[in-house]
Amino acid sequence: MSTIVITGAGRGIGRELARAALAKGHMVYGSVRSEADAARLRDELGSALMPLVFDVTDRAAIAREAATIAGPVDILINNAGIIGPEPEKQSPLAMDFDGFAETLAINTIAPLAVSQGFLPTLRRSEHGRILTISSQMSSMTYRKADQIAYRASKAAVNKVMQGLATALEPDGIPVILINPGWVRTDMGGPSAALDAGDVAAGILTLAETLTLAQTGRFFLWSGEESAF
Ligand SMILES: NC(=O)c1ccc[n+]([C@@H]2O[C@H](COP(=O)([O-])OP(=O)(O)OC[C@H]3O[C@@H](n4cnc5c(N)ncnc54)[C@H](OP(=O)(O)O)[C@@H]3O)[C@@H](O)[C@H]2O)c1
Repeated sequence: MSTIVITGAGRGIGRELARAALAKGHMVYGSVRSEADAARLRDELGSALMPLVFDVTDRAAIAREAATIAGPVDILINNAGIIGPEPEKQSPLAMDFDGFAETLAINTIAPLAVSQGFLPTLRRSEHGRILTISSQMSSMTYRKADQIAYRASKAAVNKVMQGLATALEPDGIPVILINPGWVRTDMGGPSAALDAGDVAAGILTLAETLTLAQTGRFFLWSGEESAF
């Protein structure tokens, strides 16, 4: 049984991660952004779910909520994210720069801030580990001009987490990135190829079995290595 912190647990992949982890008997802290969402999520997933209420861009709130956890945290999953401005407002020639900045704040900077905020709790564990949900759209192996704010934010979080993996390797804390595929959620839409429950189950298995040998790498939700 592990203690797991999941950001963005109120819906989508995050909620399915929380549901799957609870079903396996783990202790689950799920982050949401309001007390109302905390109450709703406990109604949906059961009272074993322990909500944390913070916006991932609010570093004071992250610190406050992390400090409420007295024991060790074994697994942190940085899942919260946004797609960014409307498609016609995030091309290289027509960019909503405020929206681009918000996308970077939530998708790139916040996962590092959350990781730093929960690091004291992860260090209390003998098996602390960090997973960050990135995207296939971060890949540098092909080029496209659409959804550049989102693509750039995920490419940047890959680099940030590769750096964090290197910094935490001497402490024995693995840090990896996850490519969840195209998933049926509010973000992925109803036509997406993958069921959020299946993807969450795969990510959870990766989290449970993660070793330092895998640190700094990018994995598909199903466990195969993914190209950056
Ligand atoms: N779905 C896909 O096909 C797909 C593909 C590749 C990568 N991903 C990535 O997978 C992760 C989860 O995506 P999803 O499809 O489950 O998205 P989703 O259904 O849109 O859910 C997004 C989650 O992130 C939370 N969130 C957004 N901004 C936040 C903030 N500032 N502070 C705290 N929480 C915040 C949301 O909370 P609220 O309910 O409070 O808004 C919600 O719980 C994201 O990182 C996404 O980029 C998804």
